[in-house]
Amino acid sequence: MNRHTDTPAGTELLDLPMPEPRTCPFGPAPVYDRLRAEAPVTRVACPTGLTAWLVSRYADVRDVLGDAERFSSRPGQVVHLMAHADPERPIGEGEFTRMDGPEYQRFRRHMGPEISSPRRLAKLRPLVRAVVDERIGALAAAGPPADLYQDFAIPVTTASIGGLVGVPYADRDLFHTAASGVFSDVTDQVQLAAAVRPLQGYLFELVRRRRVEPEDDALSRMVARAPSAEPPFSDVELVAMSAVMLVAGFDSTATALAHGVLALLNDPGQWARLRDDPSLVPGTVEEMVRLFGGGAGIVREATVDTEIGGRPVAKGDYVILAIQSANHDPEAFPDPGRLDVARDTEGHLGFGHGTHQCFGQQTARLELTVALEALVRRVPSLRLAAPLADVPFKTGTSVVGPERVPVTWDEILPAEGEGP
Ligand code: HEM
Repeated sequence: MNRHTDTPAGTELLDLPMPEPRTCPFGPAPVYDRLRAEAPVTRVACPTGLTAWLVSRYADVRDVLGDAERFSSRPGQVVHLMAHADPERPIGEGEFTRMDGPEYQRFRRHMGPEISSPRRLAKLRPLVRAVVDERIGALAAAGPPADLYQDFAIPVTTASIGGLVGVPYADRDLFHTAASGVFSDVTDQVQLAAAVRPLQGYLFELVRRRRVEPEDDALSRMVARAPSAEPPFSDVELVAMSAVMLVAGFDSTATALAHGVLALLNDPGQWARLRDDPSLVPGTVEEMVRLFGGGAGIVREATVDTEIGGRPVAKGDYVILAIQSANHDPEAFPDPGRLDVARDTEGHLGFGHGTHQCFGQQTARLELTVALEALVRRVPSLRLAAPLADVPFKTGTSVVGPERVPVTWDEILPAEGEGP
Protein backbone atom coordinates (compact mmCIF):
# COMPACT_ATOMS: atom_id res chain seq x y z
CA MET A 1 0.00 0.00 0.00
CA ASN A 2 1.23 3.47 -0.79
CA ARG A 3 0.67 5.10 2.57
CA HIS A 4 0.94 8.58 1.13
CA THR A 5 -2.00 8.20 -1.23
CA ASP A 6 -4.15 5.38 0.18
CA THR A 7 -4.33 6.31 3.83
CA PRO A 8 -7.23 8.37 5.11
CA ALA A 9 -5.84 11.86 5.41
CA GLY A 10 -4.55 13.03 8.75
CA THR A 11 -4.85 9.73 10.59
CA GLU A 12 -1.34 8.41 10.19
CA LEU A 13 2.19 9.48 10.95
CA LEU A 14 3.69 10.39 7.57
CA ASP A 15 7.41 10.24 6.92
CA LEU A 16 9.50 13.21 5.84
CA PRO A 17 10.89 13.87 3.32
CA MET A 18 7.85 13.26 1.16
CA PRO A 19 8.26 10.60 -1.52
CA GLU A 20 9.92 11.13 -4.88
CA PRO A 21 10.04 10.90 -7.82
CA ARG A 22 8.37 14.11 -8.69
CA THR A 23 6.56 14.65 -11.92
CA CYS A 24 7.92 18.20 -11.91
CA PRO A 25 11.24 19.20 -10.29
CA PHE A 26 10.13 22.77 -9.67
CA GLY A 27 7.55 22.41 -6.94
CA PRO A 28 7.07 20.67 -3.63
CA ALA A 29 6.51 16.89 -3.69
CA PRO A 30 3.11 16.08 -5.27
CA VAL A 31 1.66 14.75 -2.00
CA TYR A 32 1.43 18.33 -0.70
CA ASP A 33 -1.56 18.98 -3.00
CA ARG A 34 -3.50 16.30 -1.12
CA LEU A 35 -2.24 17.41 2.28
CA ARG A 36 -3.32 21.02 1.71
CA ALA A 37 -6.77 19.81 0.72
CA GLU A 38 -7.30 17.04 3.28
CA ALA A 39 -4.74 17.17 6.10
CA PRO A 40 -3.27 20.66 6.23
CA VAL A 41 -1.90 20.13 9.76
CA THR A 42 -0.71 16.55 10.07
CA ARG A 43 1.77 14.53 12.13
CA VAL A 44 5.09 13.60 10.50
CA ALA A 45 8.18 11.63 11.48
CA CYS A 46 11.42 13.30 10.41
CA PRO A 47 14.63 11.53 9.39
CA THR A 48 16.30 13.06 12.45
CA GLY A 49 13.87 11.30 14.79
CA LEU A 50 11.77 14.39 15.44
CA THR A 51 7.98 14.04 15.39
CA ALA A 52 6.17 17.21 14.44
CA TRP A 53 3.11 18.86 12.93
CA LEU A 54 3.55 19.54 9.22
CA VAL A 55 1.69 22.68 8.14
CA SER A 56 1.13 23.00 4.39
CA ARG A 57 -1.50 25.71 3.70
CA TYR A 58 -0.49 29.29 2.96
CA ALA A 59 -2.79 30.87 5.55
CA ASP A 60 -1.64 28.54 8.36
CA VAL A 61 2.07 28.85 7.52
CA ARG A 62 1.77 32.63 7.48
CA ASP A 63 -0.15 32.59 10.76
CA VAL A 64 2.57 30.56 12.54
CA LEU A 65 5.51 32.50 11.08
CA GLY A 66 3.81 35.74 11.99
CA ASP A 67 3.31 34.88 15.65
CA ALA A 68 6.64 34.63 17.46
CA GLU A 69 4.85 34.72 20.83
CA ARG A 70 3.03 31.44 20.23
CA PHE A 71 5.77 29.83 18.17
CA SER A 72 9.41 29.98 19.22
CA SER A 73 12.43 29.68 16.91
CA ARG A 74 14.35 27.86 19.63
CA PRO A 75 14.61 24.42 17.95
CA GLY A 76 16.57 25.77 14.94
CA GLN A 77 15.47 26.35 11.37
CA VAL A 78 15.98 22.99 9.67
CA VAL A 79 16.39 20.70 12.63
CA HIS A 80 13.94 18.24 11.05
CA LEU A 81 16.43 17.42 8.29
CA MET A 82 19.87 17.94 9.81
CA ALA A 83 21.04 14.99 11.80
CA HIS A 84 23.60 17.04 13.72
CA ALA A 85 21.17 19.63 15.08
CA ASP A 86 19.41 18.57 18.27
CA PRO A 87 16.44 20.91 18.88
CA GLU A 88 16.96 20.65 22.63
CA ARG A 89 20.65 21.50 22.69
CA PRO A 90 21.52 24.69 24.60
CA ILE A 91 21.64 27.86 22.52
CA GLY A 92 25.26 28.73 21.74
CA GLU A 93 26.77 32.15 22.35
CA GLY A 94 25.67 34.29 19.40
CA GLU A 95 23.34 31.63 17.97
CA PHE A 96 20.70 34.28 17.37
CA THR A 97 18.69 32.35 14.78
CA ARG A 98 17.38 30.26 17.72
CA MET A 99 16.60 33.20 20.00
CA ASP A 100 13.28 34.99 20.61
CA GLY A 101 12.14 38.38 21.93
CA PRO A 102 14.56 41.09 23.10
CA GLU A 103 17.48 38.66 23.20
CA TYR A 104 16.98 38.13 19.47
CA GLN A 105 16.31 41.80 18.67
CA ARG A 106 19.66 42.77 20.12
CA PHE A 107 21.28 40.91 17.20
CA ARG A 108 18.81 41.90 14.51
CA ARG A 109 19.14 45.59 15.35
CA HIS A 110 22.88 45.36 15.11
CA MET A 111 23.16 43.37 11.88
CA GLY A 112 20.13 44.61 9.97
CA PRO A 113 21.44 48.04 8.96
CA GLU A 114 24.76 46.57 7.86
CA ILE A 115 23.14 44.13 5.48
CA SER A 116 20.00 45.72 4.19
CA SER A 117 19.94 49.51 4.53
CA PRO A 118 19.44 51.31 1.17
CA ARG A 119 22.85 52.91 1.63
CA ARG A 120 24.62 49.58 2.00
CA LEU A 121 22.73 48.09 -0.91
CA ALA A 122 23.64 51.04 -3.13
CA LYS A 123 27.29 50.40 -2.29
CA LEU A 124 26.96 46.69 -2.96
CA ARG A 125 25.37 47.05 -6.40
CA PRO A 126 28.55 48.01 -8.35
CA LEU A 127 30.42 45.13 -6.72
CA VAL A 128 27.75 42.63 -7.75
CA ARG A 129 27.60 44.09 -11.24
CA ALA A 130 31.38 43.79 -11.63
CA VAL A 131 31.34 40.17 -10.46
CA VAL A 132 28.45 39.29 -12.78
CA ASP A 133 30.17 40.92 -15.78
CA GLU A 134 33.43 39.22 -14.95
CA ARG A 135 31.74 35.79 -14.73
CA ILE A 136 29.86 36.28 -17.99
CA GLY A 137 33.17 37.32 -19.55
CA ALA A 138 34.69 34.08 -18.26
CA LEU A 139 31.83 32.08 -19.81
CA ALA A 140 32.47 33.85 -23.13
CA ALA A 141 36.18 33.12 -22.95
CA ALA A 142 35.67 29.43 -22.16
CA GLY A 143 32.87 29.02 -24.72
CA PRO A 144 29.74 26.87 -24.43
CA PRO A 145 28.55 24.67 -22.81
CA ALA A 146 28.73 25.66 -19.13
CA ASP A 147 27.14 24.83 -15.82
CA LEU A 148 25.17 27.91 -14.83
CA TYR A 149 25.13 26.85 -11.18
CA GLN A 150 28.82 26.12 -10.54
CA ASP A 151 30.35 28.36 -13.22
CA PHE A 152 28.12 31.39 -12.66
CA ALA A 153 25.68 31.38 -9.74
CA ILE A 154 28.05 30.09 -7.04
CA PRO A 155 30.96 32.43 -7.88
CA VAL A 156 28.63 35.44 -8.19
CA THR A 157 26.92 34.96 -4.83
CA THR A 158 30.15 33.92 -3.11
CA ALA A 159 31.98 37.05 -4.23
CA SER A 160 28.97 39.23 -3.37
CA ILE A 161 28.47 38.01 0.19
CA GLY A 162 32.24 37.87 0.76
CA GLY A 163 32.52 41.46 -0.47
CA LEU A 164 29.64 42.57 1.74
CA VAL A 165 31.02 40.98 4.91
CA GLY A 166 34.68 41.60 4.12
CA VAL A 167 36.08 38.15 3.31
CA PRO A 168 38.32 38.00 0.22
CA TYR A 169 37.25 35.64 -2.60
CA ALA A 170 40.48 33.67 -2.16
CA ASP A 171 39.27 32.56 1.29
CA ARG A 172 35.88 31.33 0.08
CA ASP A 173 36.60 27.64 0.73
CA LEU A 174 36.31 28.34 4.45
CA PHE A 175 32.66 29.29 4.27
CA HIS A 176 31.83 26.88 1.46
CA THR A 177 33.07 24.02 3.65
CA ALA A 178 31.23 25.33 6.71
CA ALA A 179 27.99 25.63 4.72
CA SER A 180 28.21 22.13 3.31
CA GLY A 181 28.54 20.86 6.89
CA VAL A 182 25.81 23.03 8.38
CA PHE A 183 23.23 22.27 5.69
CA SER A 184 24.01 18.56 5.31
CA ASP A 185 21.79 15.80 6.60
CA VAL A 186 24.59 13.36 7.42
CA THR A 187 27.11 15.27 9.49
CA ASP A 188 27.61 14.23 13.11
CA GLN A 189 28.94 16.64 15.75
CA VAL A 190 32.59 15.79 15.10
CA GLN A 191 32.26 16.23 11.34
CA LEU A 192 30.26 19.41 11.84
CA ALA A 193 32.91 20.92 14.11
CA ALA A 194 35.61 20.01 11.59
CA ALA A 195 33.64 21.82 8.86
CA VAL A 196 32.89 24.94 10.89
CA ARG A 197 35.94 25.50 13.13
CA PRO A 198 38.38 26.70 10.48
CA LEU A 199 35.90 29.45 9.50
CA GLN A 200 35.42 30.45 13.14
CA GLY A 201 39.17 30.63 13.76
CA TYR A 202 39.63 32.70 10.62
CA LEU A 203 36.83 35.09 11.58
CA PHE A 204 38.25 35.56 15.08
CA GLU A 205 41.46 36.76 13.51
CA LEU A 206 39.55 38.96 11.09
CA VAL A 207 37.53 40.56 13.92
CA ARG A 208 40.76 41.42 15.73
CA ARG A 209 42.38 42.78 12.59
CA ARG A 210 39.37 44.91 11.64
CA ARG A 211 39.30 46.38 15.16
CA VAL A 212 42.80 47.72 14.59
CA GLU A 213 42.56 48.39 10.86
CA PRO A 214 38.92 48.86 9.87
CA GLU A 215 37.93 48.57 6.24
CA ASP A 216 34.77 49.52 4.37
CA ASP A 217 32.89 46.30 5.04
CA ALA A 218 30.06 45.01 7.25
CA LEU A 219 32.40 43.21 9.62
CA SER A 220 34.43 46.36 10.36
CA ARG A 221 31.28 48.35 11.02
CA MET A 222 29.80 45.69 13.29
CA VAL A 223 33.07 45.50 15.21
CA ALA A 224 33.10 49.29 15.60
CA ARG A 225 29.50 49.34 16.86
CA ALA A 226 29.85 46.32 19.15
CA PRO A 227 30.63 48.30 22.37
CA SER A 228 27.43 50.36 22.02
CA ALA A 229 25.15 47.30 22.16
CA GLU A 230 23.53 46.37 25.46
CA PRO A 231 25.36 44.38 26.62
CA PRO A 232 28.31 44.94 24.23
CA PHE A 233 28.89 42.17 21.71
CA SER A 234 31.66 39.71 22.49
CA ASP A 235 34.07 38.54 19.81
CA VAL A 236 32.35 35.14 19.87
CA GLU A 237 29.08 36.86 19.02
CA LEU A 238 30.67 38.93 16.27
CA VAL A 239 32.16 35.78 14.79
CA ALA A 240 28.79 34.03 14.97
CA MET A 241 27.01 36.91 13.21
CA SER A 242 29.49 37.08 10.35
CA ALA A 243 29.61 33.30 9.99
CA VAL A 244 25.83 33.10 9.64
CA MET A 245 25.82 35.78 6.95
CA LEU A 246 28.50 33.98 4.96
CA VAL A 247 27.04 30.52 5.41
CA ALA A 248 23.37 31.49 4.87
CA GLY A 249 24.16 33.96 2.16
CA PHE A 250 25.75 32.28 -0.82
CA ASP A 251 24.20 28.89 -1.67
CA SER A 252 20.63 29.93 -0.88
CA THR A 253 20.94 32.71 -3.44
CA ALA A 254 22.98 30.67 -5.94
CA THR A 255 20.44 27.86 -5.79
CA ALA A 256 17.49 30.24 -6.22
CA LEU A 257 19.23 31.70 -9.27
CA ALA A 258 20.11 28.31 -10.76
CA HIS A 259 16.65 26.93 -10.08
CA GLY A 260 14.96 30.02 -11.46
CA VAL A 261 17.00 30.20 -14.66
CA LEU A 262 16.45 26.48 -15.18
CA ALA A 263 12.70 27.02 -14.96
CA LEU A 264 12.84 30.02 -17.27
CA LEU A 265 14.88 28.21 -19.90
CA ASN A 266 12.58 25.24 -19.63
CA ASP A 267 9.74 27.54 -20.68
CA PRO A 268 11.25 29.45 -23.63
CA GLY A 269 8.16 31.64 -23.95
CA GLN A 270 8.79 33.07 -20.48
CA TRP A 271 12.50 33.57 -21.21
CA ALA A 272 11.63 35.39 -24.45
CA ARG A 273 9.14 37.60 -22.62
CA LEU A 274 11.79 38.59 -20.10
CA ARG A 275 14.39 39.17 -22.80
CA ASP A 276 11.98 41.41 -24.71
CA ASP A 277 10.96 43.33 -21.59
CA PRO A 278 13.73 43.46 -18.96
CA SER A 279 11.53 45.66 -16.77
CA LEU A 280 9.95 42.34 -15.75
CA VAL A 281 13.19 41.19 -14.09
CA PRO A 282 12.47 42.37 -10.50
CA GLY A 283 9.04 40.69 -10.58
CA THR A 284 10.58 37.55 -12.03
CA VAL A 285 13.06 37.45 -9.15
CA GLU A 286 10.15 37.43 -6.68
CA GLU A 287 8.45 34.72 -8.72
CA MET A 288 11.64 32.63 -8.64
CA VAL A 289 11.81 32.93 -4.86
CA ARG A 290 8.09 32.18 -4.51
CA LEU A 291 8.49 29.00 -6.56
CA PHE A 292 11.67 27.69 -4.96
CA GLY A 293 12.35 29.47 -1.67
CA GLY A 294 12.23 27.63 1.64
CA GLY A 295 12.07 24.22 0.00
CA ALA A 296 13.30 22.47 3.13
CA GLY A 297 10.69 24.02 5.43
CA ILE A 298 11.31 25.72 8.78
CA VAL A 299 10.76 24.48 12.33
CA ARG A 300 9.11 26.23 15.27
CA GLU A 301 8.04 25.09 18.75
CA ALA A 302 4.64 25.94 20.32
CA THR A 303 5.13 28.00 23.49
CA VAL A 304 1.52 27.53 24.67
CA ASP A 305 -1.38 25.13 24.09
CA THR A 306 -2.85 26.53 20.89
CA GLU A 307 -4.31 25.57 17.53
CA ILE A 308 -3.28 25.84 13.90
CA GLY A 309 -6.04 25.88 11.30
CA GLY A 310 -8.44 24.49 13.91
CA ARG A 311 -6.16 21.58 14.90
CA PRO A 312 -5.10 21.58 18.59
CA VAL A 313 -1.35 21.85 19.09
CA ALA A 314 0.16 21.38 22.54
CA LYS A 315 2.81 23.51 24.24
CA GLY A 316 6.20 22.03 23.37
CA ASP A 317 5.07 20.47 20.06
CA TYR A 318 7.33 20.98 17.09
CA VAL A 319 5.82 22.50 13.97
CA ILE A 320 7.28 22.36 10.45
CA LEU A 321 6.21 25.14 8.11
CA ALA A 322 6.25 23.82 4.56
CA ILE A 323 7.04 27.18 2.99
CA GLN A 324 7.27 25.95 -0.56
CA SER A 325 3.93 24.17 -0.24
CA ALA A 326 2.41 27.39 1.12
CA ASN A 327 3.74 29.29 -1.88
CA HIS A 328 2.15 26.65 -4.13
CA ASP A 329 -1.24 26.93 -2.44
CA PRO A 330 -3.84 27.70 -5.14
CA GLU A 331 -5.83 29.65 -2.52
CA ALA A 332 -2.98 32.17 -2.44
CA PHE A 333 -1.53 31.99 -5.97
CA PRO A 334 -3.69 30.87 -8.90
CA ASP A 335 -2.13 28.15 -11.07
CA PRO A 336 0.71 28.10 -8.54
CA GLY A 337 3.04 25.62 -10.27
CA ARG A 338 3.43 27.81 -13.35
CA LEU A 339 6.35 30.21 -13.56
CA ASP A 340 4.85 33.51 -14.66
CA VAL A 341 7.24 36.41 -15.14
CA ALA A 342 4.34 38.87 -14.76
CA ARG A 343 2.68 37.29 -11.71
CA ASP A 344 1.56 39.29 -8.68
CA THR A 345 3.69 37.61 -6.00
CA GLU A 346 2.72 39.97 -3.18
CA GLY A 347 2.85 38.19 0.17
CA HIS A 348 4.91 35.16 -0.91
CA LEU A 349 6.75 33.42 1.91
CA GLY A 350 9.98 32.46 0.10
CA PHE A 351 12.02 34.66 2.45
CA GLY A 352 9.90 33.66 5.44
CA HIS A 353 7.59 36.05 7.26
CA GLY A 354 7.44 37.83 10.60
CA THR A 355 10.18 38.33 13.16
CA HIS A 356 12.80 35.93 11.77
CA GLN A 357 12.20 36.61 8.10
CA CYS A 358 15.35 36.53 5.99
CA PHE A 359 17.95 39.09 7.02
CA GLY A 360 19.55 38.96 3.61
CA GLN A 361 16.47 39.27 1.42
CA GLN A 362 17.39 42.68 0.02
CA THR A 363 20.89 41.45 -0.69
CA ALA A 364 19.50 38.35 -2.40
CA ARG A 365 17.07 40.45 -4.45
CA LEU A 366 19.90 42.71 -5.54
CA GLU A 367 22.15 39.81 -6.59
CA LEU A 368 19.37 37.97 -8.40
CA THR A 369 18.20 41.10 -10.22
CA VAL A 370 21.65 42.18 -11.37
CA ALA A 371 22.49 38.62 -12.48
CA LEU A 372 19.25 38.08 -14.37
CA GLU A 373 19.34 41.49 -16.04
CA ALA A 374 22.85 40.78 -17.29
CA LEU A 375 21.97 37.28 -18.53
CA VAL A 376 18.94 38.38 -20.55
CA ARG A 377 20.83 41.34 -22.01
CA ARG A 378 24.20 39.76 -22.73
CA VAL A 379 23.25 36.15 -23.41
CA PRO A 380 19.84 36.39 -25.13
CA SER A 381 20.32 33.03 -26.87
CA LEU A 382 20.89 31.21 -23.55
CA ARG A 383 19.21 27.78 -23.55
CA LEU A 384 19.41 24.42 -21.84
CA ALA A 385 22.11 22.09 -23.15
CA ALA A 386 20.38 18.97 -21.82
CA PRO A 387 16.78 17.84 -21.39
CA LEU A 388 15.24 18.80 -18.06
CA ALA A 389 14.92 15.12 -17.16
CA ASP A 390 18.74 14.82 -17.25
CA VAL A 391 19.34 17.72 -14.84
CA PRO A 392 20.45 16.23 -11.49
CA PHE A 393 19.05 17.63 -8.23
CA LYS A 394 21.03 17.95 -5.00
CA THR A 395 20.50 15.36 -2.30
CA GLY A 396 21.63 15.31 1.33
CA THR A 397 21.30 19.07 1.82
CA SER A 398 18.56 21.37 3.02
CA VAL A 399 19.34 23.83 0.21
CA VAL A 400 17.00 22.27 -2.31
CA GLY A 401 17.73 22.76 -6.02
CA PRO A 402 19.59 21.58 -9.11
CA GLU A 403 23.12 20.23 -8.81
CA ARG A 404 24.00 21.40 -12.33
CA VAL A 405 22.30 23.57 -14.92
CA PRO A 406 23.87 22.73 -18.30
CA VAL A 407 23.48 25.66 -20.68
CA THR A 408 24.65 26.74 -24.10
CA TRP A 409 24.37 29.89 -26.27
CA ASP A 410 25.24 31.34 -29.68
CA GLU A 411 26.83 34.62 -28.70
CA ILE A 412 27.74 36.67 -25.63
CA LEU A 413 27.39 40.43 -26.00
CA PRO A 414 29.84 42.85 -24.37
CA ALA A 415 29.17 44.33 -20.95
CA GLU A 416 27.81 47.86 -20.80
CA GLY A 417 30.66 50.26 -21.47
CA GLU A 418 32.79 47.51 -23.11
CA GLY A 419 33.59 47.72 -26.80
CA PRO A 420 31.95 45.23 -29.21
C1 HEM B 1 17.20 33.63 -2.48
C2 HEM B 1 17.98 33.57 -1.40
C3 HEM B 1 17.50 33.36 -0.01
C4 HEM B 1 16.39 32.70 0.45
C5 HEM B 1 15.32 31.96 -0.37
C6 HEM B 1 16.40 32.81 1.91
C7 HEM B 1 15.41 32.30 2.73
C8 HEM B 1 15.36 32.51 4.09
C9 HEM B 1 14.26 32.15 4.95
C10 HEM B 1 12.99 31.45 4.48
C11 HEM B 1 14.57 32.53 6.21
C12 HEM B 1 13.66 32.46 7.44
C13 HEM B 1 14.09 31.55 8.52
C14 HEM B 1 13.15 31.53 9.71
O1 HEM B 1 12.08 32.15 9.70
O2 HEM B 1 13.48 30.85 10.67
C15 HEM B 1 15.89 33.10 6.17
C16 HEM B 1 16.59 33.55 7.27
C17 HEM B 1 17.86 34.09 7.19
N1 HEM B 1 18.57 34.43 6.06
FE1 HEM B 1 17.99 34.06 4.18
N2 HEM B 1 17.51 33.54 2.28
C18 HEM B 1 18.20 33.89 1.15
C19 HEM B 1 19.35 34.67 1.08
C20 HEM B 1 20.04 35.15 2.17
C21 HEM B 1 21.22 35.99 2.12
C22 HEM B 1 21.87 36.53 0.84
C23 HEM B 1 21.64 36.19 3.41
C24 HEM B 1 22.81 37.01 3.94
C25 HEM B 1 23.12 38.21 3.54
C26 HEM B 1 20.69 35.51 4.27
C27 HEM B 1 20.75 35.49 5.64
C28 HEM B 1 19.76 35.00 6.45
C29 HEM B 1 19.84 35.03 7.90
C30 HEM B 1 20.99 35.59 8.72
C31 HEM B 1 18.66 34.45 8.35
C32 HEM B 1 18.27 34.18 9.80
C33 HEM B 1 17.29 35.18 10.27
C34 HEM B 1 16.81 34.88 11.66
O3 HEM B 1 16.76 33.75 12.13
O4 HEM B 1 16.45 35.83 12.28
N3 HEM B 1 19.75 34.89 3.48
N4 HEM B 1 16.35 33.11 4.86
